[in-house]
Amino acid sequence: MKNIIITGGAGFIGSHVVREFVLQHPEITIINLDALTYAGNLENLKDIEKYPNYRFEKADITDIEALRRIFEKYHPDAVIHLAAESHVDRSITDPMAFINTNVNGTANLLNLCKEFWDLNPEHTHGRFPNKPRKNLFYHVSTDEVYGSLGEDGFFVETTAYDPKSPYSASKAASDHMVRAYGNTYGLPYIISNCSNNYGPNHFPEKLIPLCLFNIIHERPLPIYGDGKYTRDWLYVIDHARAIHQIFFEAKTGKTYNIGGFNEWQNIDLIHELIRQMDAKLGRPEGYSQKLITFVKDRPGHDKRYAIDATKLNQELSWKPSVTFEEGLAKTIEWYLENQEWLNNVTSGEYQKYYEKQYHS
Ligand code: NAD
Ligand code: TYD
Repeated sequence: MKNIIITGGAGFIGSHVVREFVLQHPEITIINLDALTYAGNLENLKDIEKYPNYRFEKADITDIEALRRIFEKYHPDAVIHLAAESHVDRSITDPMAFINTNVNGTANLLNLCKEFWDLNPEHTHGRFPNKPRKNLFYHVSTDEVYGSLGEDGFFVETTAYDPKSPYSASKAASDHMVRAYGNTYGLPYIISNCSNNYGPNHFPEKLIPLCLFNIIHERPLPIYGDGKYTRDWLYVIDHARAIHQIFFEAKTGKTYNIGGFNEWQNIDLIHELIRQMDAKLGRPEGYSQKLITFVKDRPGHDKRYAIDATKLNQELSWKPSVTFEEGLAKTIEWYLENQEWLNNVTSGEYQKYYEKQYHS
């Protein structure tokens, strides 16, 4: 492979994926294609922007002509697709943005792959594991497509789709389109569905970075409902490592769930963040507990997510490289050392959203 387009590379997860590929593959040109929405920030890639195998192209995936120009320029051998509207709360207030980017934007990319790649119609069903792969569409998705779990059980790759928010429904629609292009046109694809990520570059509207930011500034920590909702957290660099390994080692037509068997109820997680932050900031133990503020619940709030990542572990021997304790300590250190980044991303567009969301 000579050229790989990574969409959404200026965002949280995308920036770690771009870095992983740029550093590990000097022989491949990595094209970061991103619209730089409120969530995209090229500061996330400052350390590698001068590497000879890195390129940036500003484009909106809803604009097919802009995408076509980039495909004509690079003739990509593969696309790793992460660009998306990614925040559930925003999908509740503005679902069309999610349908436009996540569904239509993904369809634009699929159509261009169909146009530019010599797809073999005999290779239908997207399953041609032993053929040498020339091209690949790697679709990065979420475990939220599976819906919500009760007290027990895990999402596996065969769990029926049951998305419940406009965000997860838009991601489920895009997953279905990818498989449909595999089945109908022989598009070589891989899909992975990951649990909640945390780590450096996480935009401070999602639970963990929002609370870290608010603890620093002694602002309220908004806990939706009773706080007894469960999420399964994975360190973002382990997600990027998994994508890299799956990209090169997995057979096409496959789906992998990615997760670290690390479930936390929101309220317990907030107590842990407070414990570690107060210690780091030299505040008395429990000082920031007073910031916990129970607020109105998110409509249609999914109760519990939990990923069973056994298939990925058994087939590709992937496992997380850090424990949650280590990952959280690294994350806290990063946010304390990068307060300028926090201040930059929380000004401008985000600031208006924040005021409306939490102070009206
Ligand atoms: P993010 O919101 O931090 O970043 C999204 C990136 O996409 C930004 O750089 C943004 O500028 C870009 N983008 C948005 N709309 C675009 C458009 N129309 N055209 C071009 N670029 C556009 O998101 P993230 O958390 O890094 O998530 C990345 C991907 O991983 C998404 O597809 C998401 O569904 C998936 N995912 C996220 C998580 C998670 O915990 N954050 C977990 C599993 C899967
Ligand atoms: P979030 O980080 O938005 O990720 P997702 O909804 O995709 O899982 O939220 C994680 C959990 O934290 C979820 O149960 C909603 C909850 N939450 C709060 O309680 N308060 C907040 O301010 C936010 C943003 C989320």
